[in-house]
Amino acid sequence: MGGQRDINQVKNPRSQVTVVLAMSADGKIADRDRTAARFSSAHDLAHLETLVAQADAVLFGAGTLRAYGTCLSVRQRALVEQRETRHQPPQPIQIVCSQSGHLEPQWRFFQQPVPRWLLTSSAGAQHWSAMVEGDDGTYFDQVLPDLTEPMDWRSLLQRFHPLGIERLALLGGGTLVASFAEQDLIDEMHLTVCPLLLGGAAAPTPFDGTGLAIAQALKLQLIGVRQVENEVFLHYRRCHPKGD
Ligand SMILES: NC(=O)c1ccc[n+]([C@@H]2O[C@H](COP(=O)([O-])OP(=O)(O)OC[C@H]3O[C@@H](n4cnc5c(N)ncnc54)[C@H](OP(=O)(O)O)[C@@H]3O)[C@@H](O)[C@H]2O)c1
Repeated sequence: MGGQRDINQVKNPRSQVTVVLAMSADGKIADRDRTAARFSSAHDLAHLETLVAQADAVLFGAGTLRAYGTCLSVRQRALVEQRETRHQPPQPIQIVCSQSGHLEPQWRFFQQPVPRWLLTSSAGAQHWSAMVEGDDGTYFDQVLPDLTEPMDWRSLLQRFHPLGIERLALLGGGTLVASFAEQDLIDEMHLTVCPLLLGGAAAPTPFDGTGLAIAQALKLQLIGVRQVENEVFLHYRRCHPKGD
């Protein structure tokens, strides 16, 4: 099966998916009220911006946008210049995933100087279009009404690749990451472990959803670990065992 996957990947390449998250020492990516997770250091924010700058597009769930109201654009001049050198546009595409299309036009996100796409269902696209009185183009450069239940993420990533999205940064939250993990579509993961405890069964984790049995657990290889003051920066790669 491993060989089969490789042949399919060559014939029909897909975007590579890198998850980037900060979590508390007890494994929570936000507090029990699912507010914006502003608990990591300035160093972690710079690390996040560097990883965003490497991506062709960034994908996040509507729950994350509801918490923040904004996205992380690339602001450091050196990072923008590195993108130019790699022949990438100045900013990665910011893609919001929302089944419902229940988003707020007044969010600061819609004033940020970034390309924006909405990935939604056909009902979600109709809801959003009615909300902005048909003026969709003011808010999103593209509306993709392709979200289905269940969602075939692999096909979507195969469609993204020829559009120039080779590297997709998946920035959470735990619900969206879970739907990629359940389809084994996470290639790399950067996790920053931050020095605080949040607790609470309702608080989101890096991988929510219904979870996997131990026999189906996705095995990771640790390819980097770095400590900066009180934070630990972990870098994992998904490892597909031989014969898997
Ligand atoms: N610490 C960190 O690094 C970090 C990073 C990101 C987020 N967070 C935190 O995580 C929390 C948000 O996480 P969350 O799990 O509640 O929300 P989320 O994953 O950001 O978004 C969930 C929403 O996205 C849409 N969605 C996700 N997966 C979908 C799928 N497979 N099919 C269709 N629609 C899908 C749905 O939108 P609709 O409801 O519109 O249908 C769903 O309600 C916030 O508290 C935020 O601060 C932390």
